[in-house]
Amino acid sequence: MASYFIQTWGCQMNVYDSDRIRDLLNAQQDVETDNIKDADIVILVTCAIREKAQDKVFNQLYAWKANKQYKENAIICLGGCVASQEGEACIKRAPMINVVFGPQTIHRLPNMIDEVRNTDAKHVVDVSFPDIEKFDYLPSPKNSGSSAFITIMEGCSNFCTYCVVPYTRGPEVSRQVEDILNEINALTAQGVKEVNLLGQNVNSFKGLYEDGTECNFAELLYLVAAIEGVERIRFTTSNPHDLSDEIIQAFADIPKIADAIHLPVQNGSNNILKRMNRKYTREHYMNIINKLRAVRPNIYISTDFIIGFPGETDEDFADTMDLIEQVKFDQSFSFIYSPRPNTPAATYEDTTTLDVKRARLYKLQAAINNQAQLYSREMLGSIQKILVDGFSVKDKAELRGRTDNNRTVNFVGDPKLIGSFINVRITDVMTHTLRGEIVEE
Ligand code: SAH
Ligand code: SF4
Ligand code: F3S
Repeated sequence: MASYFIQTWGCQMNVYDSDRIRDLLNAQQDVETDNIKDADIVILVTCAIREKAQDKVFNQLYAWKANKQYKENAIICLGGCVASQEGEACIKRAPMINVVFGPQTIHRLPNMIDEVRNTDAKHVVDVSFPDIEKFDYLPSPKNSGSSAFITIMEGCSNFCTYCVVPYTRGPEVSRQVEDILNEINALTAQGVKEVNLLGQNVNSFKGLYEDGTECNFAELLYLVAAIEGVERIRFTTSNPHDLSDEIIQAFADIPKIADAIHLPVQNGSNNILKRMNRKYTREHYMNIINKLRAVRPNIYISTDFIIGFPGETDEDFADTMDLIEQVKFDQSFSFIYSPRPNTPAATYEDTTTLDVKRARLYKLQAAINNQAQLYSREMLGSIQKILVDGFSVKDKAELRGRTDNNRTVNFVGDPKLIGSFINVRITDVMTHTLRGEIVEE
């Protein structure tokens, strides 16, 4: 029995992996602590998507060491995409690390920890991609909330020219269909009502059934929707290139799919999209948006942008602003391009100054925030279906829930409502949250 501390950076796939690590360690009677000082095992699940994200981990480790934040004999484990990207080299950069494991070897972590504990080995490294075996070795997931993530596929084979993910998480592999459905059934039995299907490109999901036949993403959506306990379905991330008419039809047929989609466009200039190897044009993107809005007139579109990709001109940026104007995004995660080791774009000539890139990013974010405020204000007086996920952060006497379009609504209600879907009327709109009142059935 040991106590462990775990910190997670990066995307939801890392959050999912961290929860599976918890399941693994809890199954052998280890106990989680949120105080690193008490931990016998310190686990960091890291992200390498931008340089800043990557550096943060090493800075954190050295800051902890300098302040004697962890026990002298604690076993330090580095996982996630930085571990995968740097492998052995992590230990050179931070020799206090004992175990380096990758996104596809989380199931081996307990053994790797034992090896450090029970042998002379000071360091153990395994960042291989043993296909998709990890799911065969993970215990059935435990979930205490009403919403859960389910990884339906691992890795990515798209090789966008700026991106490390195909290198850190390996090639795209879909999970077996029954395996996914069993996992969701186990979760709904524990009270989960909202499922979030995860993958780097869920639209290209191609899982096999037990009998060896193939299932695509649209088909999977119908199967998940048929599970009785599932009341809301979300998925992320969708690649516009693979968003088929069948998937759009699923939006028309399945009311359980949230009225929101995260559809990263990355840039509004065809020239830049081409050099990013995104395999679609802005016209194709607009076409998808129009088709989605034809079946779901109120669908909320959120996206990701990369600003300041090498060679981005003022005209390219103007195209991006124009796309924002046309699509009227509800939200975006936008960042300045960060060159990543071994990716093709890292070698592209980049003459735009950081000041110009910052100014572009600022302008883009202002436009999207503006749009988000308009959407929020339009919600005033409307009735929204929310999943009550706990107490309000500011006022513990109130409850909090989430709308389809991911806005937080605070309202007065009985704590018994936590974990269920209810209808609220929006009575006030703040910058970041909404207020509501329960609508009696
Ligand atoms: N699979 C998803 C994206 C996963 S990475 C997709 O294809 O849309 C999440 C986001 O990080 C990306 O959408 C992109 O906007 C951003 N990102 C990836 N690499 C980056 C880089 N080198 N610099 C800046 N942002 C990057
Ligand atoms: Fe990265 Fe492109 Fe794969 Fe998304 S689709 S994870 S951006 S390579
Ligand atoms: Fe980061 Fe890896 Fe996710 S690089 S964004 S944690 S896939």
